[in-house]
Amino acid sequence: MFNSIAAKYDFLNHFLSMGIDKIWRKRVIKLLSHIQKPYILDVATGTGDLALLAHKKLGSKVTGVDISTGMLEVAEKKIKERGVGEFITVVEGDSENLPFDDNSFDAVMVAFGVRNFENLNKGLTEMTRVLKPGGRMVVLEFARPSSFPFKQLYFFYFKQMLPFFGGIISKDKAAYEYLPASVLNFPDGEAFDKELVAAGMKPLSRKKQTFGIATIYAAEKGMQ
Ligand SMILES: C[S@@+](CC[C@H](N)C(=O)[O-])C[C@H]1O[C@@H](n2cnc3c(N)ncnc32)[C@H](O)[C@@H]1O
Repeated sequence: MFNSIAAKYDFLNHFLSMGIDKIWRKRVIKLLSHIQKPYILDVATGTGDLALLAHKKLGSKVTGVDISTGMLEVAEKKIKERGVGEFITVVEGDSENLPFDDNSFDAVMVAFGVRNFENLNKGLTEMTRVLKPGGRMVVLEFARPSSFPFKQLYFFYFKQMLPFFGGIISKDKAAYEYLPASVLNFPDGEAFDKELVAAGMKPLSRKKQTFGIATIYAAEKGMQ
């Protein structure tokens, strides 16, 4: 599915989120700013926006991993255009079977990726495995607002407008119907923190974004 929308993904991302995703991404990076030039893994890196931002803001070396060749081709093009190939590498791989050694990274981050894992526990456990003891994990993911009128507006936008515009522009309506369906069925808030604990992480903070339409979770791997 992501291969088919890769060429239009960046445009649609910013257009459909009205640019808000850029603010959320900056907040993710801020949660890693206490670590001196961390070596970061960006899981489900897609077209590489979060990886590029992490390098820009923190001067970090970043490895991005994604299962979609089409998305990675767009990421590679952007990395080349910005001349940061020395610092950012992308590799094809499955989050549920990460091609990295145990305890390799200072930080692991993922934006709008965990919702797509076939087996959430397996994906989060893999992310924990490759993280160094004491390392930090930051997850940005859509959530469901619970209060009036945001809940009603959000559901209207997500179920009606987003599939309509996403479908016309990407010519893949199913992909933009999948988005609300996957969000509505995904654990958020405390339920997601429980998933982090089940994967061996210690939740540190959970911050709702923009009336609760997304949440940023931060967690730490124990020193063992
Ligand atoms: C909504 S995009 C998010 C991309 C990027 N992180 C961003 O913030 O724009 C979700 C990405 O997850 C990737 N993905 C889905 N399942 C995956 C898996 N099992 N392993 C690795 N990547 C996966 C898709 O290929 C896609 O690029």
